[in-house]
Amino acid sequence: MIVATAKPDDLPALLELEESGFDAPERWSTGSWASELSSPDRLVLISRDDDQVEAVACFGVLDDTAEVLRVVVRPDRRERGIARRLVGLGMDWADAAGADRILLEVRYDNDRGLSLYKAAGFTAIARRSDYYGLGRHAIVMECRFHRRPAPGLSRLSRWPA
Ligand SMILES: CC(C)(COP(=O)(O)OP(=O)(O)OC[C@H]1O[C@@H](n2cnc3c(N)ncnc32)[C@H](O)[C@@H]1OP(=O)(O)O)[C@@H](O)C(=O)NCCC(=O)NCCS
Repeated sequence: MIVATAKPDDLPALLELEESGFDAPERWSTGSWASELSSPDRLVLISRDDDQVEAVACFGVLDDTAEVLRVVVRPDRRERGIARRLVGLGMDWADAAGADRILLEVRYDNDRGLSLYKAAGFTAIARRSDYYGLGRHAIVMECRFHRRPAPGLSRLSRWPA
């Protein structure tokens, strides 16, 4: 597993991942992904295996608040700790960028997503009704960077085993 920053050339692979991970109403368009790839306040991480993109995670930061904007792992590469690793790296990036907290939205019935983010230290703080379409509510989750890791100690290394 090699983690790198995504480049414009990776766009087709990101669109494939998007299709594999989300229903049509929730999918980001080509234009949305292209804009994420070119935005200076974004971090788009990809994980590769055998030269193939197996996962992507997108993060943003504005002032004191960061966001987890997207995490998708190719179906045949799930449950191997890839999302955990990418989210941990994104949280480290947000912390280093000076954010005090990191937020995200996840569909209320996305059990895998909810478990992933709870395990990463997020807690639910609000609900947004019909956020993804009628009946498709979102849970807003937050992780505050109260206890910053000691220098050199990655947040990833503090993840519960
Ligand atoms: C959610 C998703 C990103 C998880 O990716 P992954 O690489 O399989 O996750 P990891 O292997 O890193 O697992 C990390 C944690 O996520 C949770 N998790 C992952 N797969 C799970 C499953 N099938 N059931 C329940 N929890 C699960 C667990 O808490 C897990 O920690 P653990 O291994 O200590 O139990 C992946 O299933 C996916 O791409 N889903 C479609 C897109 C999506 O829903 N993205 C999240 C919302 S933006």
